[in-house]
Amino acid sequence: MGGKIMNNLGSLPVVFASGKGSILTDVNGKEYVDFVSGIGVNCLGHAHPALVKAIADQAARQIHISNYYNSDRGLEYSGALLEKTGMDRVFFANSGAEANEAAIKIARKFGGEKKTIVTLLKSFHGRTVATLAATGQEKFHNPAFAPYPAGFRHIPANDYGALEGAFDGACALMLECVQGEGGVNLVDPDWAKAAAAAARKAGALVIADEVQTGIGRTGFFLASDFLGIEPDVVTLAKGIAGGVPMGACLARGAAAEVFVAGDHQSTFGGNPLACAAALAVLAEVGKGAFLAAVTEKGEYIRSKVAGWKLPGVASIRGRGLMIGLDTVKPASELQLACLERGLCVSTAGPNILRFLPPLNINTDEIDRGLDILYTVLRS
Ligand SMILES: Cc1ncc(COP(=O)(O)O)c(C=O)c1O
Repeated sequence: MGGKIMNNLGSLPVVFASGKGSILTDVNGKEYVDFVSGIGVNCLGHAHPALVKAIADQAARQIHISNYYNSDRGLEYSGALLEKTGMDRVFFANSGAEANEAAIKIARKFGGEKKTIVTLLKSFHGRTVATLAATGQEKFHNPAFAPYPAGFRHIPANDYGALEGAFDGACALMLECVQGEGGVNLVDPDWAKAAAAAARKAGALVIADEVQTGIGRTGFFLASDFLGIEPDVVTLAKGIAGGVPMGACLARGAAAEVFVAGDHQSTFGGNPLACAAALAVLAEVGKGAFLAAVTEKGEYIRSKVAGWKLPGVASIRGRGLMIGLDTVKPASELQLACLERGLCVSTAGPNILRFLPPLNINTDEIDRGLDILYTVLRS
C-alpha cells in the first residue's frame, strides 16, 4: 500500500488509520492500546475533543503567517507558556532537535570565547549534526555523517568526581532530565543540583533538554522542577502541541537577551495553528489534578508490573508516565509480540522496553495494555 518511505525508518508491520483516547485502530479495524503516544507526543491521546476543536477553529481562521509578523494566537500562547514556566522569552521551532539547536546557539553566543557544551553520557539530544554531536552515545556518532561540530564534552550522570574541571572552557551544561532514548535513566536531583552549581560557578548556562520530559510527562510540568535546578534555558517539543509539530526554546535572565534580530529563525516555528494546539494542551495539562494523576498512573503501572515478579523482567523504573522496563528477552522481540496482541510499546535499548502512554490514559486502558504485556512477558 502506498509510496516508498526511505529505508532509515524501520516500520513495524501495522498501518494505523485512526485513534480515540489511548486506543489506536489499524486499517483492518483491529484495536491497539497505545503505550507509545507517538513517542511521547500525543499527550492528550487521540482525537481529544478540545484539541481537535482548537485545531479546526484555528485552521479556519489562519494557519500560517511567517515570523515577519506576530499572530494573536502566538502572543497568547507565548504569554501563557512563559507564565507557566517562569521563563522570560521563547523562540518557537518545529522539533526537539531544532529547539536544541537554538539552545546551543544561545549558549555559544553567551559564552563568547568559551564554546564547549557539557552533556551527559547516555543522553540523546536529536538527529541534526550538532545535536548528534551533543548526544552522549557513541552509537549515534556514525563516521559516515562526519565531520561533527567540535565543542561537546560528555560526562557520566550521577558521578560527583566527573564534575571536577568539567566546565573548564564551557559555556553550558545541557542536561536531559530523565534520559529517554538512552534507556529511561533517572538523574539524581542532588547530583543535578551539584552539576548546575558547578556550571554556574564556571560562568556557564544551565540548559534543560525537556523535549521528552516536558509538558507533564514526569508528573511535573517540567522535570527540572523536581530536579530543582532552575535552568537558564529549557527546550520543549514532543507533547507541547499534542501532535502538531512544534518545539520551543525558553530562556530567562541574560540568556533570554542573547538573540538579536537576524540571529536565528525558522519558517514554520510558532505558527498560529501550532500555537492554538499548544494552548489547548496547556489548558488540559494545567487542570487541577492532571499532573498528580500522571504520577499516580505511573506508580500504578510500575507497582503492578513489579508485583508480577516475572523472571523475564529484570527491573522497572521511571518518573510519571515515562517508564523503562529491563527485559531478559530482546526488547524488539517483545515489542513485536505485544503489537501482534494489540499493544504498542517502544524500546530504548536492546533489552529495554519503554512506555510513554498518553498522559490522560484511563485505568481501563492501562489495565487492558498491562493484560497484554503480562501475557507476552510470561510466555
Ligand atoms: C531528550 C530529547 N531531545 C531531543 C530530541 C529530538 O527531538 P525531535 O525528534 O523532535 O527532533 C528527542 C527525541 O527523542 C529527545 O528525546
